[in-house]
Amino acid sequence: MSIKKVVVAGGGVLGSQIALQSSYCGFDVTIWLRSEESIERAKPKLERFKNIYINTLEQMKTDASAYCRGLSKKRDLTENEINDLKKNAEEAYESLTLTTSYEEAASDADLIIEAIAENPEQKIAFYQELTKYMDKKTILVTNSSTLLPSMFAEYTGRPEKYLSLHFANTIWKNNTAEVMGHPGTEQEYYDEVVKFAEDINMIPLKLKKEQPGYILNSLLVPFLSAAESLLANDVADHETIDKTWILATGAPAGPFHILDIVGLTTAYNIIIMNPESQDPNSTPGKIAKMLKAKIDAGETGINAGKGFYKY
Ligand SMILES: NC(=O)c1ccc[n+]([C@@H]2O[C@H](COP(=O)([O-])OP(=O)(O)OC[C@H]3O[C@@H](n4cnc5c(N)ncnc54)[C@H](O)[C@@H]3O)[C@@H](O)[C@H]2O)c1
Repeated sequence: MSIKKVVVAGGGVLGSQIALQSSYCGFDVTIWLRSEESIERAKPKLERFKNIYINTLEQMKTDASAYCRGLSKKRDLTENEINDLKKNAEEAYESLTLTTSYEEAASDADLIIEAIAENPEQKIAFYQELTKYMDKKTILVTNSSTLLPSMFAEYTGRPEKYLSLHFANTIWKNNTAEVMGHPGTEQEYYDEVVKFAEDINMIPLKLKKEQPGYILNSLLVPFLSAAESLLANDVADHETIDKTWILATGAPAGPFHILDIVGLTTAYNIIIMNPESQDPNSTPGKIAKMLKAKIDAGETGINAGKGFYKY
């Protein structure tokens, strides 16, 4: 089987990026949305991302550092090649179909990428409705960041063709695609999804088994919480901790700079999931208090102009 018709369900932050990127790489893409209002909300996002593609490509003509891996596998492009890619971005955007009809979206789809809200009940309700319209051949993947595919496989009517394909925000630059099956996923369909990820200029990162947080967050979350612990327990200030990491490992950024990028609200939501954070004398409790004080002061990270650092 080869994937041609792709459906992206959800046109939010990630759904709109996945749809445009797949269309940019030559796939026939339909975006399924649950209401006309959702369609109206998705349109400006798609247009904004299309403009980012075109502006970035234009910048790549004169500035080598503007190169984005998702926009071209080849790094050194001629002016004509870049102009062709700009035209391609415009056409990719124009060719997108947006629909609220399950029937129109699902019929004949080779691959459906679910990127709706991170809510298990809503995902289950969506799968249950979708199964009424999906063709037997259709592979179904979820972009869920925190939920495991085994939680949903039984509701998809095709557990062997169901798995996770997890993208990173700003997929044209940060072009990772973590591919993760559940115990019932068949290798053949896993391999198809890996190939699709490559075909849309992503770098597939293959997980051999289910893991909450995939590879990236399994590494990042403990790393960031170790740094938060050092600060909350007053072992060193945040600049010294970052400096230690950067100088000793050659990494471009330290944990507190990364926390500013992730956003302190997300960091806070992660720490309060730990029941120990209820105890103000425990390390998670001290971390929660420290983050809460910064959030209350409006210092939530890069997007707010201030987090641990000023921007
Ligand atoms: N934002 C990120 O950085 C990021 C990164 C990787 C993966 N993800 C995952 O992608 C998925 C979507 O995240 P997002 O950030 O794009 O969210 P979002 O809130 O920006 O968009 C969600 C989209 O789903 C639609 N939607 C919401 N509830 C629905 C329902 N019950 N039925 C049908 N459609 C519904 C909304 O209308 C919207 O189009 C989540 O599973 C999330 O974990 C997000």
